[in-house]
Amino acid sequence: MDLLKSRFDHTAPAESHTQRSPPRRRIIVALTGATGSILGIKVLIALRQLNVETHLVVSKWAEATIKYETDYTISNIRALADHVYNINDMAAPIASGSFRVDGMIVVPCSVKTLASISSGICDDLISRAADVILKERRKLVLAVRETPLSSIHLRNMTTATEAGAVIFPPVPAYYIKPSSIEDLIDHSVGRMLDLFDLDTAGFERWTGWKKE
Ligand SMILES: Cc1cc2nc3c(=O)[nH]c(=O)nc-3n(C[C@H](O)[C@H](O)[C@H](O)COP(=O)(O)O)c2cc1C
Repeated sequence: MDLLKSRFDHTAPAESHTQRSPPRRRIIVALTGATGSILGIKVLIALRQLNVETHLVVSKWAEATIKYETDYTISNIRALADHVYNINDMAAPIASGSFRVDGMIVVPCSVKTLASISSGICDDLISRAADVILKERRKLVLAVRETPLSSIHLRNMTTATEAGAVIFPPVPAYYIKPSSIEDLIDHSVGRMLDLFDLDTAGFERWTGWKKE
């Protein structure tokens, strides 16, 4: 009642804005079955460190690549997220535009999921959530991993870009002079999260030629 009063009665005392902490940023993270599952895992870890609320969907083939490529278990990865959904759950909150999120990242993104997103086929929760992000004009980052690329892949990337997505192939930046694969992963993760205006502070930024 007090809340209603303060909202509609201009004679009521104004609510204190200084006492409210800003709402937590909210990002959907989808892992699909392209190689590079560690990138998705490291994105989840970085978002946790940045206190971002994460909504996670993992495809069947992502589960297979995670198992093959890393020492993480699916339950380890689920535990990194705030909310986890089954890929077939079309009634999940993230399937609706009325559920407010800041954006979505598909990392790694297979060319199959790229094709589903660019053609608007909402037959699983990842492509549906991505479709919703595009229609609501929110930020969608697709870390598409395939090489070499066919004209089908390139066309699908163009279509997704024209609809508002950012294609972020996780290609290494050799100028950082990496001493390990970890350095390359941290750099890619940092640059991906830059797109959401989030700074992992986990990599060195280019500031010009280094003086010898
Ligand atoms: C070990 C392994 C590596 C794969 N790497 C890639 C890849 O880099 N890019 C890609 O588009 N598909 C890759 N695939 C194939 C996808 O997993 C497959 O197309 C799958 O249907 C993708 O489905 P999803 O997007 O629903 O996860 C790979 C599959 C396996 C088993």
